[in-house]
Amino acid sequence: MTTTTRTAAVTGAVGAAHVRVEGYDKVTGAARYAGDIPFADLAHGWLALSTVARGRVLAVESDAVLAMPGVLAVLHHGNAPRVDGEYMSMLGPPDPALQVFQHDRVPYVGWPVALVVAETSEQAREAAEALVVRYEEEPHDVAFSAGRPGMYTPEDSPDMVAEKGDVEAGLAASAFVVDEEYTTPEEHHSSMEPHAATARWDGGRLEVVDSNQGSMWVADELAKLFSLDAASVRVRSEHVGGAFGSKGVRPHHVAAAMAATTLDRPVRVVLTRRQMFTVTGYRSPTAQRVRLGADPDGRLRAFDHQADCLTSTVKEFVELSAAYGRVMYEADAHRTVHRVVPLDVPTPTWMRAPGEAPGSFAVESALDELAEKCGVDPIALRVRNEPAVGPVSRLPFSSRNVIACFDEGARRFGWAGRDPRPGRRREGRWLLGTGTAAATYPSGVAPSTAAVTAEADGTYTVRITAADVGTGARTALTLIAADALEVPPERVRVRIADSDFGPAWVAGGSMGTRSWAWAVTTAAGALREQLALGGDIPAEGITARSDTTEAVARLTQKERHSFGAQFAEVAVDVSTGEVRVRRMLGVFAAGKIVNPLTARSQFIGGMIWGLSMALHEEAVRDQATGGHVGADLAGYHFAANADVPLIEADWVDDPDVDDPVGIKGIGEIGIVGAAAAVANAVWHATGVRHRHLPIRPDRVLSAGAPAEGDGDA
Ligand code: MOS
Repeated sequence: MTTTTRTAAVTGAVGAAHVRVEGYDKVTGAARYAGDIPFADLAHGWLALSTVARGRVLAVESDAVLAMPGVLAVLHHGNAPRVDGEYMSMLGPPDPALQVFQHDRVPYVGWPVALVVAETSEQAREAAEALVVRYEEEPHDVAFSAGRPGMYTPEDSPDMVAEKGDVEAGLAASAFVVDEEYTTPEEHHSSMEPHAATARWDGGRLEVVDSNQGSMWVADELAKLFSLDAASVRVRSEHVGGAFGSKGVRPHHVAAAMAATTLDRPVRVVLTRRQMFTVTGYRSPTAQRVRLGADPDGRLRAFDHQADCLTSTVKEFVELSAAYGRVMYEADAHRTVHRVVPLDVPTPTWMRAPGEAPGSFAVESALDELAEKCGVDPIALRVRNEPAVGPVSRLPFSSRNVIACFDEGARRFGWAGRDPRPGRRREGRWLLGTGTAAATYPSGVAPSTAAVTAEADGTYTVRITAADVGTGARTALTLIAADALEVPPERVRVRIADSDFGPAWVAGGSMGTRSWAWAVTTAAGALREQLALGGDIPAEGITARSDTTEAVARLTQKERHSFGAQFAEVAVDVSTGEVRVRRMLGVFAAGKIVNPLTARSQFIGGMIWGLSMALHEEAVRDQATGGHVGADLAGYHFAANADVPLIEADWVDDPDVDDPVGIKGIGEIGIVGAAAAVANAVWHATGVRHRHLPIRPDRVLSAGAPAEGDGDA
């Protein structure tokens, strides 16, 4: 037994760069991912996915594959365990996309119709690919376009419509009007690590080891699906190679749990890259009409944004693209509306900056078009339309430092003296241009619980059901706990991603670190009070727990958001249509930055997504089959190293005064506005507006000859 000693001089871990605490394990391969963790007596499941876009399963011809080497079982709608489809989950109503093998209906190409289980992964795959499934096919419809038949505005959600004043009157009275349609294609998360889950029964408990962004969330869903009490499910997810919204509960979890039940053995289901395209969600394509009406000086009279997206016939999921303007721009009349159409496609889901990523492309492009029409500098135009309070809600902002971001960004990027006319800078075969855009993303917090233990050896152990999906959350929590305990980070061990640690928010909505930090700080404070009483620490340590439910509920209503300013410089080869981004700069006001090293990575990662969204990413659907063309990382092109130039991210001081650590959340804002900054730079280079992403070479070429530049560079 030892008495703890604390050194007051060592506080200040938060805000100082710290390498990832699990970095050594990751680079040496000691860190194991879900698909690599060994289990005794493990069997392997392989999903068979539907090959038709709409219809019914007539027959799953299992007999032939059951005779193949190593095959143990074929689960399908005729023989799989039943699940409960009526529960309310932690994150909302039950997900019908998890009701696999419960009925014979096929809602899209890629719907799971069977799970083949075998002794080895290779045997399971060979049998699943040999499995003959007969269908009764029905005509399908996968054609998405703005305002197409079947489009509706959901009535049961307050997020769908926000309105103030008379938009039509405002537009009619405006000196300048922008009225354009912008589109973004179907986009995929494409996390480096594919999804994997192993399920087994252990002493009456369902144990799952997987790759997720919230172990409590997965445990909660599985408990409800299989009618188990919460204490009978344990989910762990130690290391996760990217998630971005795609790593909630997915059909492979359900299939693995069913097979483990049927066979009474551990069963692992791993998805292939190709399967991820239909099994794990994606971002809906969008078609967005933005109408801006302004006075001669650029002050907005009317702001109108109508955002259309698709969903599946299984579940309604709406990409909230029009929410962006409700935060960003003041206008006398303001209207933002969402519409959705159910088609014979997989269900879309959250994907990094859901809503704000496509929404900011449309709005920030339209602002640039308005700046051109009014003859006002794009940054000055944004400053002129800064709201003092929420443009629609009239609530105060917790803090709003977007102008500070533009000031700092403009200075560092060299915006001053920019010739506003397009097509004026030429360098050999390249036309050069620069563009800018604003960014915002909500700053939220959700109730969480944590435990902090003072160990007898003078170290501390933090336990919280957090997820580190590659963000550096484990390291951030180590620094936060160290400061709260007033000890060096080396004396703090943070254990995460085990649902047995108790309820905590997920790595989602840019709310993970903020929600977990609040719980860890609270528990650490309670522990210090206990330790202040003095005395020795027993062998089992002294543990204090926290639950932030009440503290979070006491937060007053405010507009709480992070903000940013994005800048890009591009070069456009007008003979090939190639667009090269030369440099990008993002300056953010996103709360207290806990670990500058990993925060910078997150911002830059988001900005690279924006570059990729602007120029490369597009999942193409074949209207004839209803399935994807080239559902792999060769066919689905995203930015690779050679596409990524000098990218800088930095931030201004912007602590959240209502948060114990000052955190706002940084996971998603990096992508917001980035695609618009690139598109606006392409216009500045060429004089041609590109309102449809991605800005492919063929689109640049077919847009016609650019304005002839002076060639003065
Ligand atoms: Mo994020 S799309 O909230 O994982």
